[in-house]
Amino acid sequence: MHPILRNERLSPNVTRLVLEAPRIAEIRQPGQFVIVHLGRGAERIPLTIADADASAGTISLVIQAIGKSTADLVELQPGDAIADVAGPLGRPTQLPDHGHAVCVGGGVGTAVILPIAQELERRGVRVTSIIGGRSREWVILEPELAACGMVVACTDDGSYGRPGFVTEALADVLTAGSVDEVFAVGPVPMMRAVADLTRQAGVKTTVSLNPVMVDGTGMCGGCRVTVDGETRYACVDGPEFDGHAVDFKELSDRLSTYRPFEQAAAERRVCEIGLRTRPKLGSEEAGVPGAEPEAVVQGATR
Ligand code: NAD
Ligand code: FES
Repeated sequence: MHPILRNERLSPNVTRLVLEAPRIAEIRQPGQFVIVHLGRGAERIPLTIADADASAGTISLVIQAIGKSTADLVELQPGDAIADVAGPLGRPTQLPDHGHAVCVGGGVGTAVILPIAQELERRGVRVTSIIGGRSREWVILEPELAACGMVVACTDDGSYGRPGFVTEALADVLTAGSVDEVFAVGPVPMMRAVADLTRQAGVKTTVSLNPVMVDGTGMCGGCRVTVDGETRYACVDGPEFDGHAVDFKELSDRLSTYRPFEQAAAERRVCEIGLRTRPKLGSEEAGVPGAEPEAVVQGATR
């Protein structure tokens, strides 16, 4: 069992859980992930290790509540525990030892960028982080990234930082020159747009892919992606790949195949909570808007 030590809300639907996992905390490297299994009957969910403290024996997972399983996870509080945490899984990020690296994080993808930026800074690489959210409250982990170098925060609606997508800020940084390498994690359209920009600029680009995963050991084929025309499995060959060689259209198509199932499970969960929490007819609470179940927000896991 892995006890939860802290639950912290980072944005309207993103939560950081700090939990005990001493062995994983000791050996994990940037880019690696775990598969968590809350308990009997629960789904297995891949989550990037956003941070770790080897001396405390803890890891941090940043989770976007998008469906039944992730909504169950973000409700965990100190005193609760996760039954199984398997990992660290996946290949560690290939990191340079010098030069200027730009780390681009879109929404919850910023959590995947954080351990990369931390290790780059530790190696003496100059780090610029470009992070984005729909509006101010969706921009996450800015103070943690500011400890690694310069941060450009962007919002789609201009409510904070630079108005516009992260790619607009990246285009300016690339034009200014002196960028040796880019790491980008976020929605698939963002990673594709980043790769298009850096291809033109001739800058090496690593992206972290988030296909559906089941076993996380290369056996089920669920996480199949195409890179440089070849089939690769994100759980064992990735999850990071050369952004200029990824077939993003195939990844998008495969992800959208599962959306109706995720939506149905999320709706079932809302109904179940509603049945458990609905006040008895005639009680004082009946008809009070706050008694309605909270809607589960659309999004993604890793
Ligand atoms: P979001 O849709 O709110 O977008 C976040 C930011 O990404 C935006 O503010 C914008 O700056 C940028 N962006 C979005 N669309 C863009 C486009 N077409 N062109 C350029 N930039 C664009 O993000 P969210 O709701 O937090 O969702 C995060 C997504 O990241 C999910 O889809 C999730 O699957 C994915 N993700 C991927 C990984 C991974 O390992 N690849 C990890 C975590 C999350
Ligand atoms: Fe099964 Fe990768 S998750 S092969």
